[in-house]
Amino acid sequence: MSFINLTKNCTRGLSTSVARMAAIKNVTIIGGGQMGAGIAQVAAQTGHHVVVVDQSDEILGKSVAGIQKSLARVAKKKYADDPAGGESFMKTTMGQISTETDPEAAVKEADLVIEAIVENIKIKQDLFEKLDKVAPQNAIFASNTSSLPISEIAQTSQRKSKFGGLHFFNPVPVMKLVEVVRIDETSDETFNSLVAFGQAVGKTTVSCKDTPGFIVNRLLVPYLMEAVRLFDRGDASARDIDVGMKLGAGHPMGPFELIDYVGLDVTKFIMDGWHEKYPDNALFNPSPSVDKLVSEGKLGVKTGEGFYSYKK
Ligand code: NAI
Repeated sequence: MSFINLTKNCTRGLSTSVARMAAIKNVTIIGGGQMGAGIAQVAAQTGHHVVVVDQSDEILGKSVAGIQKSLARVAKKKYADDPAGGESFMKTTMGQISTETDPEAAVKEADLVIEAIVENIKIKQDLFEKLDKVAPQNAIFASNTSSLPISEIAQTSQRKSKFGGLHFFNPVPVMKLVEVVRIDETSDETFNSLVAFGQAVGKTTVSCKDTPGFIVNRLLVPYLMEAVRLFDRGDASARDIDVGMKLGAGHPMGPFELIDYVGLDVTKFIMDGWHEKYPDNALFNPSPSVDKLVSEGKLGVKTGEGFYSYKK
């Protein structure tokens, strides 16, 4: 058997055994914002029963309306020549989703709980402490945090072997990656189930230890800040740095376009958290010009101005 065939067979064998582990049918998503709604959509689209939890029915109404709008785009593309098929796809998918304002009631039947609420360690810990007492013993807990250590979020839970990170990317229905993060205590079974779930919702998974920023943000966020430092020193304009990275490195967006898209507040929040924890790591140093723009409310595309102006 050639090396390629051996690799193919091993990969096939592995993915079959991963698929066999996947007992995840019922998914509870806490937080129906940008990320939670996206995760709910892809999970429902792939046949999972989904409960979305948020703080009020009003927020949940907006969340469901957003999912419906996003699904309509998928249906239009997927069923371009079959409007009836598109309608049935929408109906079936939306039928997989229900909503709840009480997180404890929402996890009663859960195989997997994915937390996508505000990026605040104490609020996340309190939530998991509560859920730990009422969720089925076998339910797996996962956080979608971008910047907080999964092990700290898991601290209040008694099921650390059933805890991990599932880090999706924005916008979830479009971005093809999920980082599956394991803490020291995560069992192989839990890890394999999380990988299988990531694959079942149509994503490519990569795995990473519980290290700041996991893979993607650990490289991306310091890169964005390094671009800002280059600009701050007056070495090059934002426009030239963006053109340089697009045409010279083949990136689809330049760092200033990207930081404006991600949000300067979000980038600053991540950097400040890491800087506080690792003050000796110069890669995590804050940037005075990002701080200034944030203090002026210039957060990027969402406020109409960041490094660039988006005002019409
Ligand atoms: P968001 O602000 O759009 O949504 C958060 C939602 O959680 C809101 O609807 C809020 O009402 C709800 N919420 C807050 N506290 C709650 C509680 N105690 N119980 C129930 N619901 C609660 O935020 P977003 O962007 O969706 O981020 C959520 C999480 O995903 C954060 O941990 C963030 O770090 C992470 N993340 C964000 C990405 C992004 O690009 N926005 C990318 C990957 C991860």
